[in-house]
Amino acid sequence: MQPSPHQVGFLGAGKMGEAILAALIRSGCCRPRELIACEAVDARRAEIRRRYRVKVTTCPADLAAACDTIVLAVKPQDLDAALLALAPSLARRHLLVSIAAGKTLARLQELAGPQARVVRVMPNLAVAVGEGMSAFALGSRARAADRRWVARLLGSCGQAIELDEPLFDAVTALSGSGPAFFAYFMQAMADAGTALNLPPGAARLLACQTMLGTARTLGETAQDPAAFIQAVCSPKGTTAAGLAVLERSSVRNAVGRTLRAAARRSRELNRG
Ligand SMILES: NC(=O)c1ccc[n+]([C@@H]2O[C@H](COP(=O)([O-])OP(=O)(O)OC[C@H]3O[C@@H](n4cnc5c(N)ncnc54)[C@H](OP(=O)(O)O)[C@@H]3O)[C@@H](O)[C@H]2O)c1
Repeated sequence: MQPSPHQVGFLGAGKMGEAILAALIRSGCCRPRELIACEAVDARRAEIRRRYRVKVTTCPADLAAACDTIVLAVKPQDLDAALLALAPSLARRHLLVSIAAGKTLARLQELAGPQARVVRVMPNLAVAVGEGMSAFALGSRARAADRRWVARLLGSCGQAIELDEPLFDAVTALSGSGPAFFAYFMQAMADAGTALNLPPGAARLLACQTMLGTARTLGETAQDPAAFIQAVCSPKGTTAAGLAVLERSSVRNAVGRTLRAAARRSRELNRG
């Protein structure tokens, strides 16, 4: 296997590893022959090879030999051992992109050794459908070209934003855990629709598509949500009647407490 700047390796090809690998292929960012997955589970390895026609291996040194960029996609509790096994094969040409929740840049650099550059990423589950939200922070050795490459890599799975590492607990709360919070609200909308006699399947479709359409409208027009609400809320109309209840129920306050609790938990987990 010849090293190439376009070869991307995955250490771990579970849910997130597969989602990112699939997005790279789907978006055209990488071709299957430019990808290699190192995966411990035999059945999973076979599945990844069959689905995407990428090279697979059980040996971390194969990744280092073939790739300049290695996505670290094992569970946080497996990362130290996995990275220590990889470290002896790492050289100056390697860029490590970690998606492990809570693993700091300092810890990643310590495990990787002095040569490789590291980047920390917090993605979310929506990378699986190409609509992920990923925040990234560069390690101290990373270069300007790494910033551009990582932004392109993550951009092929959705949107990417560079943020300072101390903000990662807030990122974890908002976009990392966010899909579950939005799903909670969507479920509540669908259940409330069912209580108004809509068939459950129809209520779910109405809630899901309305959430998707609203997100796309606000995202694509960069419209301020408050201005959007004002525009769709005619005086004494149906939307105004519903919004008055939302305001009285302190939903805004509950959302604030929700994110603070998630960020606090992220800080606790990071302290180990
Ligand atoms: N899921 C999310 O929503 C989400 C969001 C943001 C970030 N993340 C991060 O994404 C990372 C991956 O999460 P995931 O949900 O994709 O985990 P996962 O489904 O458990 O995938 C990890 C895979 O890597 C394998 N593995 C473990 N050690 C290995 C090694 N040394 N060499 C090769 N393969 C190895 C695991 O095998 P075994 O099953 O045998 O251990 C498993 O198949 C985590 O660090 C997590 O913090 C996840």
